[in-house]
Amino acid sequence: MSTIITDWQQHHEALFGQHSVELSHNLANSTLFTDEALAALIEKSPREAYHVNYSQKTPGNPPRRREGEIKDLSGKDVLEVVKTGNIWINLTAPASVNPAYGDLLEDIYAEFEDRVPGFKSYKRRLTILISSPNVSVKYHSDVPGQSLWQVRGTKKLYVYPAAKPFISQPALEKLILGQLRETDMPYEPWYDDYAEVHMLDAGKMLHWPLNGPHRVVNENMLNVSFTTEHWTDELRRHYAVNYANGVIRKATGAQKLSQQVTGLSYYSKLALAGAVKFTPLNPQKRKEYKVDFRVDPQAPEGVRDIEGYAFVK
Ligand SMILES: [Fe+2]
Repeated sequence: MSTIITDWQQHHEALFGQHSVELSHNLANSTLFTDEALAALIEKSPREAYHVNYSQKTPGNPPRRREGEIKDLSGKDVLEVVKTGNIWINLTAPASVNPAYGDLLEDIYAEFEDRVPGFKSYKRRLTILISSPNVSVKYHSDVPGQSLWQVRGTKKLYVYPAAKPFISQPALEKLILGQLRETDMPYEPWYDDYAEVHMLDAGKMLHWPLNGPHRVVNENMLNVSFTTEHWTDELRRHYAVNYANGVIRKATGAQKLSQQVTGLSYYSKLALAGAVKFTPLNPQKRKEYKVDFRVDPQAPEGVRDIEGYAFVK
């Protein structure tokens, strides 16, 4: 068996999925994340397999991000812009461009499944994040199980409790129903007093509890990271009950709805979720993005405004 995680201890088994677990890994020197490898990935990724984003630099939680495009640039040029500009690139399907990233994903989950009894994951995904010095990612929650792997550079990761007031039940339901952009979640600066703060150096990763809100701030250097996400039967049950609750709340205006995932009410909710075209593993419907800048090495921050157009993914 490969050993990607280098400091696993027996007690992590009990913590995994329940609390944040920070671990060390051996991917910081992997050939999959060198400039050459990333430049090749950027060049080969089709339009539907990347996002490039820009947010104005502000202290604290950044404003809503803008969506851009990459045109007529080599992967190497793009990396230069990331190093000196203010953008972040999300490669959403590296495994379809180079199967080695798919193999890495398989190896990672094989290792966790070997170490955590009863952990069986599916619909796994790996996405790569290449981001400029000091870039931040806005407060948000993700729908599937999530981990963040730091490969190059250092970032500060704030993880907040997956409970109200940090995430309300209606906000979670809207997120699952696709009615709330993940980065439009309500945030207050005082939330930070209740966050776990992890300084993720190259060679560290964090796995945190389901739907835990989080935000990220890069230190002053290029950052290369990747996320892994997955589903399990248990995560799916939570998804189903929150999905159904969202539908019931919308239809009836109910205030109090149980989040229990067992018993009669759970099964009737599961049936309801099925009745309204419940698609547990495809939570994100097609999204429309407005592309309004192009990556440009000559422009300030590497970002040139263009006439906006819609991009549906
Ligand atoms: Fe996230």
